[in-house]
Amino acid sequence: MPFDHVVSINDFSNEEIMHVFEIAEKMLPAARGETASDLLRGKILATLFFEPSTRTRLSFESAMNRLGGNVIGFSDPSGTSFVKGETLADTIRMAEAYSDVIVLRHPREGAARLASRFSNKPVLNAGDGAGQHPTQTLLDLFTIIHEKGNLQDQNVVLVGDLKYGRTVHSLAYALTRFGAELTFVSPAQLRMPDEITSDLSQTATIHQTESLEDAVNDADVVYVTRIQKERFPDPAEYLQVAGAYRVDLKLLEQGKSDVIVMHPLPRVDEIAPEVDHSKYSSYFTQAFNGVPVRMALLGLVTGVFE
Ligand code: NCD
Repeated sequence: MPFDHVVSINDFSNEEIMHVFEIAEKMLPAARGETASDLLRGKILATLFFEPSTRTRLSFESAMNRLGGNVIGFSDPSGTSFVKGETLADTIRMAEAYSDVIVLRHPREGAARLASRFSNKPVLNAGDGAGQHPTQTLLDLFTIIHEKGNLQDQNVVLVGDLKYGRTVHSLAYALTRFGAELTFVSPAQLRMPDEITSDLSQTATIHQTESLEDAVNDADVVYVTRIQKERFPDPAEYLQVAGAYRVDLKLLEQGKSDVIVMHPLPRVDEIAPEVDHSKYSSYFTQAFNGVPVRMALLGLVTGVFE
């Protein structure tokens, strides 16, 4: 299955998603460093990060290195010609000339779509403002399958900043396509955007509540997100919702005994550290899963994997 760009999770069919996971599964030993691979030797990945990142950038770099490829790029646009006024289109043209695959994170929604129009090399969206984060969604789905066995029987609670959180935008689309049941938990100001909820409601039943306690009772997966402080036009609005939800052991003990907690990370105060070493915590495994899933994607978009 030759992919080109990865801009939205809706660019993939369900079969293509499962195919990425078959390959990711095979990548696990190399992702852990137990075996060595040089399948991508001679290929260059360009990581263009116009916004902060820890996991996404490092797991892409790790994935490329684990496959024997090389990485160029930047993690802070202040050291680039962006500060001289260079357009995104021109920066992308340069990355296209110097590399084989481009990973782009940008504060503007739609930036990855725009970039894909200026590049014949694959552009992978590593987050476009409050838009989407499709490669995160793939590792989130991979984690749910690993931890819970399947996607379709799961009652998934998405909690936190559903308005600005790009990870939950792409994840909600994917989960409903696989038949999961969704419950959205957020403060009224941070509800899932209406256009997404109405798209999803055509094929799935969506529950919405402000009460995390109520939602946790029947949850199989609690997917927690950070309030996206940097996207608030007014800092006073952020202060009204900061600290709105906190997942701790007391809350989780009210729910199903095999409920799992996920988070794309970074967390601020929305998951108590006491959860980290409990049976509920899946967020560190989830972060590791970024490596095999991104190895699979890099191999597919470069045409090295079929
Ligand atoms: C997320 C992001 O950048 O959207 N982080 C990530 O990629 N794992 C979530 C966040 O910043 O809150």
